[in-house]
Amino acid sequence: MEYDTVNKKGNIGRSALVKKPNGTMRLFITISVGIMFGLFIGVLFPSLPLTKLNFTSILLRDFSMIGNKTTADANGNQNKFKIWVPSNPKGAEMLPPGIVASESDFYLRRLWGVPSEDLAKKPKYLVTFTVGYAQRNNIDAAVKKFSENFTILLFHYDGRTTEWDDFEWSKRAIHVSARKQTKWWYAKRFLHPDIVAPYDYIFIWDEDLGVEHFDAEEYIKLVRKYGLEISQPGLEPTRKPVWQMTKKLEDHDVHKETTEKPGWCPDPHLPPCAAFVEIMAPVFSRDAWRCVWHMIQNDLVHGWGLDFALQKCAEPAHEKIGVVDAQWIVHQTVPSLGNQGSSEDGKAPWQGVRLRCRREWEMFKARMSNAEKSYYKSVGIDPSNFTGHT
Ligand SMILES: *[C@@H]1O[C@H](CO)[C@@H](O)[C@H](O)[C@H]1NC(C)=O
Ligand SMILES: *[C@@H]1O[C@H](CO)[C@@H](O)[C@H](O)[C@H]1NC(C)=O
Ligand SMILES: *[C@@H]1O[C@H](CO)[C@@H](O)[C@H](O)[C@H]1NC(C)=O
Repeated sequence: MEYDTVNKKGNIGRSALVKKPNGTMRLFITISVGIMFGLFIGVLFPSLPLTKLNFTSILLRDFSMIGNKTTADANGNQNKFKIWVPSNPKGAEMLPPGIVASESDFYLRRLWGVPSEDLAKKPKYLVTFTVGYAQRNNIDAAVKKFSENFTILLFHYDGRTTEWDDFEWSKRAIHVSARKQTKWWYAKRFLHPDIVAPYDYIFIWDEDLGVEHFDAEEYIKLVRKYGLEISQPGLEPTRKPVWQMTKKLEDHDVHKETTEKPGWCPDPHLPPCAAFVEIMAPVFSRDAWRCVWHMIQNDLVHGWGLDFALQKCAEPAHEKIGVVDAQWIVHQTVPSLGNQGSSEDGKAPWQGVRLRCRREWEMFKARMSNAEKSYYKSVGIDPSNFTGHT
């Protein structure tokens, strides 16, 4: 796993050479800049290791004074200064609450200056794409639909990260690389609710979406206006979406319910007729994501069945989950993940992936059903008395 940050030393040298003179002149300048840089560093930190050492010993002395809990022992009260704060996060009860930083963010900081002045702005929205380099042009087009109010986070499943720096925006994006993993694998590991806490909305998107008719700021306005906790953009209708619910409607801002084929929706307020979006391009509010993150299983990496269960994380689900028609996308169905499988028993890699998807769906359904049964049992309700509540 590798975090790629913008502040690589190499950038300093590169920007110093913007004029690009040619031949021996360039060589000369390169060497000069190198020497000057070395001198500069030498002047700034004449004896770096020693400075560090002195610094450390001063810090240690200060901390031992702060931490001396025996200072108050004059009146025989050993534990008067012992800190124990039950309302702190679990495991951090020994800390004074004022120092507890239980949440984080993806804001890139400087390595110098005053920390409080690091961030010119703090984006309120987060968009993640799970990408392979082959889809770079599509992702480039997609990223450009998200304003500077968005933190951009790319999950790389093919190990290629540095090549993305050809795109101007890549240097301010966060890059996380782990080979051959799925969107939900990354989401579970890198989008913990405490890590993404500063973001009002979180877009967790596939790489094969056409965004020509989509604008992220306008999308957010609609989501706020209609109170959608979980949403997705409508899908271009001519491409025959699998579900009626996610199909874009004409002359609508958003829609929250639909009709399906006869018999598909015993309850019109439940999936797939309402309270339903697909897993290719979901958008979560902070609160909804906190719930959904907890529902994602570590081993069920494809997320199949999750779409039917999202309704458990919004209340009332048929009002808080919906599809935004006015900002819509095209699902281009590039079988990228299928290519990440491996050939087994002479079958094509995508077949193995597909099989696993279906298997995971069954496992997820079974786990959810068992979890609900044991919960109802534990609170003394006979779960056999109600049905259809998947
Ligand atoms: C802690 O405080 C006690 C009482 O004031 C003192 O005797 C002791 O030397 C201190 N210990 C350290 C490590 O500073
Ligand atoms: C970014 O957010 C600010 C504050 O909500 C807003 O005023 C601004 O218009 C947004 N930027 C864009 C490009 O929409
Ligand atoms: C469940 O249904 C059975 C029979 O219909 C009934 O006897 C029982 O009281 C019900 N249990 C609860 C908890 O409602």
